[in-house]
Amino acid sequence: KWKEEEEDEQQKSEESSDLDTSSEEEEEDGVKVTTETSEPKETNPSCEETKPKNEVTAEKNEKDISEKKKLSEPAVFVPVDRTPEVQEARLKLPILAEEQVIMEAVRENPCTVICGETGSGKTTQVPQFLYEAGYASSGTIGITEPRRVAAVSMSHRVAKEMNLPTGVVSYQIRYEGNVTSDTKIKFMTDGVLLKEIQKDFLLQKYSVIIIDEAHERSVYTDILIGLLSRIVPLRNKKGMPMKLMVMSATLRVEDFTENQKLFRNPPPVVKVDARQFPVTVHFNKRTPLEDYTGEAFHKTCKIHRMLPPGGILVFLTGQAEVHGLCRRLRKAFPYRRGNTAEREDGETADDMKKFKKTKHKETVSLPRIDLDNYSALPLDEGDEDREAGIGDEEDGDSDLDLGDDPVGTEDKCDPSIPLYVLPLYSLLAPDQQAKVFRPPPPGTRLCVVATNVAETSLTIPGIKYVVDCGRVKKRFYDRVTGVSSFKVTWTSQASANQRAGRAGRTEPGHCYRLYSSAVFGDFSLFSEAEITRRPVEDLVLQMKDLNIDKVINFPFPTPPSFEALVAAEELLISLGALEEPPRSGRVKEMQQARLSCPITPLGRAMASFPVSPRYAKMLSLGKQQDCLPYVIAVVAAMTVRELFEDLDRPAGSEDESSKLAQRRARLTQMRRLWAGQGASLLLGDLMVMLGAVGACEFAGCSPKFCEDNGLRYKAMVEIRRLRGQLTNAVNAVCPEIVLAGLGDHLARRVQEEELLDPKWKNGYKTPLLDDPVFIHPSSALFKKLPEFVVYQEITETSKMYMRGVSAVEAEWVPQLLPQYCHFGAPLESPLPWFCSSSGTVRCHCPSTFFRVGWQLPAVEME
Ligand code: CDP
Ligand code: MG
Repeated sequence: KWKEEEEDEQQKSEESSDLDTSSEEEEEDGVKVTTETSEPKETNPSCEETKPKNEVTAEKNEKDISEKKKLSEPAVFVPVDRTPEVQEARLKLPILAEEQVIMEAVRENPCTVICGETGSGKTTQVPQFLYEAGYASSGTIGITEPRRVAAVSMSHRVAKEMNLPTGVVSYQIRYEGNVTSDTKIKFMTDGVLLKEIQKDFLLQKYSVIIIDEAHERSVYTDILIGLLSRIVPLRNKKGMPMKLMVMSATLRVEDFTENQKLFRNPPPVVKVDARQFPVTVHFNKRTPLEDYTGEAFHKTCKIHRMLPPGGILVFLTGQAEVHGLCRRLRKAFPYRRGNTAEREDGETADDMKKFKKTKHKETVSLPRIDLDNYSALPLDEGDEDREAGIGDEEDGDSDLDLGDDPVGTEDKCDPSIPLYVLPLYSLLAPDQQAKVFRPPPPGTRLCVVATNVAETSLTIPGIKYVVDCGRVKKRFYDRVTGVSSFKVTWTSQASANQRAGRAGRTEPGHCYRLYSSAVFGDFSLFSEAEITRRPVEDLVLQMKDLNIDKVINFPFPTPPSFEALVAAEELLISLGALEEPPRSGRVKEMQQARLSCPITPLGRAMASFPVSPRYAKMLSLGKQQDCLPYVIAVVAAMTVRELFEDLDRPAGSEDESSKLAQRRARLTQMRRLWAGQGASLLLGDLMVMLGAVGACEFAGCSPKFCEDNGLRYKAMVEIRRLRGQLTNAVNAVCPEIVLAGLGDHLARRVQEEELLDPKWKNGYKTPLLDDPVFIHPSSALFKKLPEFVVYQEITETSKMYMRGVSAVEAEWVPQLLPQYCHFGAPLESPLPWFCSSSGTVRCHCPSTFFRVGWQLPAVEME
């Protein structure tokens, strides 16, 4: 079908029957799409009108298509009743100037790309343009976001701007949403739209799909663009036109526009000139290798003391760092008590002078380091000053942060002004998150300490200074071993420049980079697409479920590596989700066959579960072994993660250190209690999770119970929803094959006689790793060291740690993993270390694994 559309452009006048072949199943390029089931089921009035009839002559066909196109063109202007304040604020957004250009491009092209700096108004305004132009009358306008936070907050914002109820401008994220039958504009996460494509390949209820934040290159975004590049022409061909828009905060869109596999006719790119004020970038002379949070603290203190009013935005890499810095800053500049004479950093006037002398040697301004190709930031009135500032840099001065006396002059910030410090990261509770959009209390200076959520998805008003640690925390996977680790690495030049740009939204600003320009020069130009960095078994399974058998031929904007695709297919074959190909023929043919295995009925069932393939497999096992409610609870808990309240998160807005310490102590004790239960039964972390879910259910899942017992309420609510969802999904299908989902995540304790190296003490051996792995200190089984365990994942920090660890009995191994077992002399086995010491093993029903003394209350069906 893919190929068919590619030829479509030229051939549609010749192949008049083209429109009729759609109900047949075709296979080309390994892609098989059955559109039969995708014929409109519910009648969509506008689609109905333009539904193709069976044309015979080529001429008529062509004419008809153009007429249909006209018919589908929204002609009516739909008025929006905005308040004068909203209207005024909108007019200030750069994208308003481009409305006409954008709408013309959309009208004339099936796909349009929009590039505009963060804050230019893409996310909030483009859906409104489309609505006003009548696109919502023939279907829903859908917008995908890679982050849940953005989907929720943007839907609220747009509803408010348009003066429409949330039943009309709505959102849908994995576990929640407020979509109604009246919804006209729908914000959703990209994962949600992918699931919808599985149900209706033609996405018939949508008239436009906007893929937002495409520059982030999230995996789902990439796949959606690949799929939509085919869906849009299919829809047009069927006379149900649909538009695709791709929005990006950087100009680097060649992966989408110049990718022949994706779009044969490159889509037009509309650039929105951001009304960006100049930002002067100051590099550090030296680059602190370790203590960049300390450096960020000192820099923020200095900015606050020396520089004129204006918000400060600090970029760090993770939640713990963010809270750490917030605490230090609050201590140094208490917001409640006004000024403080005590300064934690013990700054002296001499230090301040040195700071001015040394730090500005490498001052440059953003447009000069236009390395990532964005349109050079426009030069405003502020320009002259900025150029002068650059000229001055040899003297160690720049125009704004100077003055011999850092305090006291009129335009300097009074150092007695309190700093209003706010954290910002994606797991932060929404009400806390919303605070950054509100003006700070009068007489304070706003200081937001954020992870890279503040880089492009959310624009914080009033920021004049950016402090950038230059790093980002990323999850890395080892494809072969499946070990994942969070590592702090240098960010890319593109993202560093995005961060700097945050300082110039409302007036000229400054960005302080806590690294040297030489280090910056070594950064990669752009961040890699996520798809190249993570395992793809879940994506491969979803695609196979869409009958895309040869995933290797899929038009990815950036394809995943060959090895990753092979690993994914192999895992899915071993889980029984894909058909095992015949083991005959030439090696090359066999390899080919292994890369295009069709999905099995079990695989389809697994694809319908909103969890990763391993967990989906556990659900099928649970069904067989009569312990489904428990497996569902465990899988839900493993998927949601972080069940326990974060030790570092402040309880509310009050986060004085004494209260924080108390809270920490209490939470630590609660954790021990929970873990203790798991340890005493020698059942491990999954049982702790199960215990927590069960206990919370008995208590009616109340916020108070969670608070009293150190559980994260939001997580428990999500688990409850997921349990409902999974229960429905599992009841709908009943797969017959049995094998455990974590079977290949088995580890055996290193025996005394194998202790050749002291570093192996308390270690475990796994099938794929040469080095030992260890039970994570947070685990219920940390000190118990059972002989066999299964783990949820291995993460690498100071050592390789197993998390989500559960004890298993040696007897279960042959049932779980017959391929790893050898019923004979241990030494002859291909993996001898998996044989139990007795040499023989009995089979045993694995359901005892989950047999516990109480019944889990049923969860309500949705
Ligand atoms: O998508 P893009 O980054 O181009 O901009 P946007 O998210 O549409 O934001 C446009 C403007 O609306 C920015 O100046 C934001 O600060 C503002 N905004 C806001 O004040 N409150 C929100 N909840 C969302 C946006
Ligand atoms: Mg946006």
